[in-house]
Amino acid sequence: MRSVIDILDLSTEEIDDLIKTACDIIDDPDKYAEKCKRKKLATLFFEPSTRTRLSFEAAMYELGGNVIGFSAANNSSASKGESVSDTVKTVSCYADIIAMRHPKEGAPLVASMAASVPIINAGDGGHNHPTQTLADLLTIYREKGRFDNLTIGLCGDLKFGRTVHSLINAMSRYNGIEFVLISPEELKLPDYVTNNVLKKKNIPYTETTDLLSCMSELDILYMTRVQRERFFNEQDYIRLKDSYILTPDKLETAKDDLAVMHPLPRVNEISVAVDNDKRACYFKQVLNGKYMRMALIMKLLGVE
Ligand code: CP
Repeated sequence: MRSVIDILDLSTEEIDDLIKTACDIIDDPDKYAEKCKRKKLATLFFEPSTRTRLSFEAAMYELGGNVIGFSAANNSSASKGESVSDTVKTVSCYADIIAMRHPKEGAPLVASMAASVPIINAGDGGHNHPTQTLADLLTIYREKGRFDNLTIGLCGDLKFGRTVHSLINAMSRYNGIEFVLISPEELKLPDYVTNNVLKKKNIPYTETTDLLSCMSELDILYMTRVQRERFFNEQDYIRLKDSYILTPDKLETAKDDLAVMHPLPRVNEISVAVDNDKRACYFKQVLNGKYMRMALIMKLLGVE
């Protein structure tokens, strides 16, 4: 039995295989319509979600399986004080695989040690979000045709942005990757990522507060939301929330084949006027997430 808690739980070869499967699903979805017949996915979401929960559920239905679960901690016995371990031991009696989101960093890892079925981390606090990274990787593959030799700008909340942390881990395994880290001082990438990943692997990176100054260098611009739910102080959130707002005029110096990505939800950080730009890829990411989650569910269930 195998869980996916961190994107590094999957080798680059396994990611290549998942991408191959996802592309095959896109080409021939009918072939996969009964692959998970009589299997059940449990979605245990202790924190709000639109894309991740619904795409996991859509993925399982499109594989012919069924879904049980809850969408908020207060709809479960966690509200009565039940531990994460007891919750997943219980749900292991009902489901073949569990996708779990939790506001506390490390909760899905704890769950994976107690569960008797595979656990997929669907986002843990400001830590990791490996299945968003799978969606991001399929998007990069389909838009750029490669994972090597890319300059990737990461913009916004790099401190609490779990999608950013997972994407850095994933992309750091390829050759010729360079990161431009664009954030306010207060939301810089945590030292544990800078030191344990970028410095340790000698990956070139620059830190800046100025998005426009680096726009022309980027192959990928990955925008992120400043996350109100991660702040202890509302005044800090209000001060920082509109640090970066991508508008069409700011893309004037950008490459023609730039991929503008965002894990969503967005608030103000990308103007809706950018949605019509051919370089906007964020709704493609949403759809790619469903296909990669289908591929991952099959892999963890041992479905051929
Ligand atoms: N990208 C993402 O995790 O979105 P949700 O919070 O809506 O699941």
